[in-house]
Amino acid sequence: MSKEVINTNNSKQIGSIKLKYNIFDPEFNANPYPTYHRLRSEDPVHKYLIGGDWFVTRYADVKAVLRSGCIRTDDRPKLINERSKYLKNKEKNLDTLAYTTSKFLFYMNPPDHTRLRGLLVKTFSPVVIEQMCPFVQEIVDELLNKVRHQGSIDIVADLASPLSVKVISKLLGIPKEAQNQLHQWTNVLSRILDPLVSLEEYQRMNQATQEIQDYLRSLIHEREKNPQQDLISSLITVQEESDKLTQKEILAVCTLLFGAGEETTGNTIGNGILALLNHPEQMEQLKREPTKIQSAVEEIIRYDSAIQMITRIATDDLEIGNQQIKAGEKIVLCLGAANRDSAQFPNPDQLNINREQNHHVAFADNIHYCLGAALARLETQIAINTLIQELPNLKLARDKLEWRRNIAIRGLKALRLNFSIN
Ligand code: HEM
Repeated sequence: MSKEVINTNNSKQIGSIKLKYNIFDPEFNANPYPTYHRLRSEDPVHKYLIGGDWFVTRYADVKAVLRSGCIRTDDRPKLINERSKYLKNKEKNLDTLAYTTSKFLFYMNPPDHTRLRGLLVKTFSPVVIEQMCPFVQEIVDELLNKVRHQGSIDIVADLASPLSVKVISKLLGIPKEAQNQLHQWTNVLSRILDPLVSLEEYQRMNQATQEIQDYLRSLIHEREKNPQQDLISSLITVQEESDKLTQKEILAVCTLLFGAGEETTGNTIGNGILALLNHPEQMEQLKREPTKIQSAVEEIIRYDSAIQMITRIATDDLEIGNQQIKAGEKIVLCLGAANRDSAQFPNPDQLNINREQNHHVAFADNIHYCLGAALARLETQIAINTLIQELPNLKLARDKLEWRRNIAIRGLKALRLNFSIN
């Protein structure tokens, strides 16, 4: 068997594995960065005691693994299938979830991945997404107008979440009356990315996926009869070199896009506003110089990434930072840790909206590079710039913040702010 060497680490190897890096701790969920810093300096390629997965935290190692030819994606769909076999009540099996996730791009490998991504990539190109600018601005204005006279806003419930739901719904062609329900279902499904999922949670996710798809099936049927200017209609007719999507594939793609499109961007806007509040001088500069918004959003995405971890499996033996990883072992790439690596980003714990050479890995890299990156950037730029220009004197309404229970997806349950219009 061939062996690839990915060696970017010169530090000493730590022999014994202790649970001194506790990812199960609620404190880690609330603030993973101190643990990431310790991992990066003490044991940058760490074999986790529970489960035996490798946690990679240095930027250079994360980047090298993403670019390596010796990896494939996580086998979560296969694992769900295996779990299903142990269920006593066979009617409550996990078949829908297992099939649907097997068609999620980030669990697919070439050539299937190449084919499916190829059918979607044009819709999400920066040029196409740029055309959504007036629509996104209109939604942000509408949402802010609703709270303008209240003197307070919950960034998550009043802005970030409804904005991301409305925008991805517009792209897909989901009618207004169904958006809220779909949001609830995909919220359940978002636990799929967390490495720590119970059997009951898988059953809840399976149920939610069935409900999403029962709804989408009737919508697809309607679009077949009466096509519109939306992604569902084009997925029905899309052809690339005589290739066509099956109905089951369309259902899986729409489920993925709705979930990926709303969770991540919603969380990024919340995390970004919090970061600016914690760095008031950066907030002030952005208010004075709104044209800085592009580099500001890039920095926000680096500083507190909505996706903190992704998983790969070694297809061959490889060496990463002096550690020997065997074919078949799981590698958890801690994107959030890599994005705070001082070897790549000077002063990494400082939000710096003027940062140059900001080549973060928040959108991953290589063939699975985030398909929705242009859309996420556009929404976050418009939401943050409009908010800080329109609602002056934004202040945290309470000190205690509650984070969503998910170590892979980072986002706040709520972010209540007060403001005063002079
Ligand atoms: C700031 C917000 C976002 C962040 C931080 C983010 C992050 C990521 C990351 C890290 C991956 C790679 C997953 C992996 O390799 O295992 C990914 C893939 C993906 N993202 Fe995003 N994402 C964001 C917004 C969006 C949006 C708005 C969409 C909407 C449509 C989207 C759709 C996707 C899809 C379809 C993939 C799979 C690509 C593939 O495997 O080929 N993302 N995203």
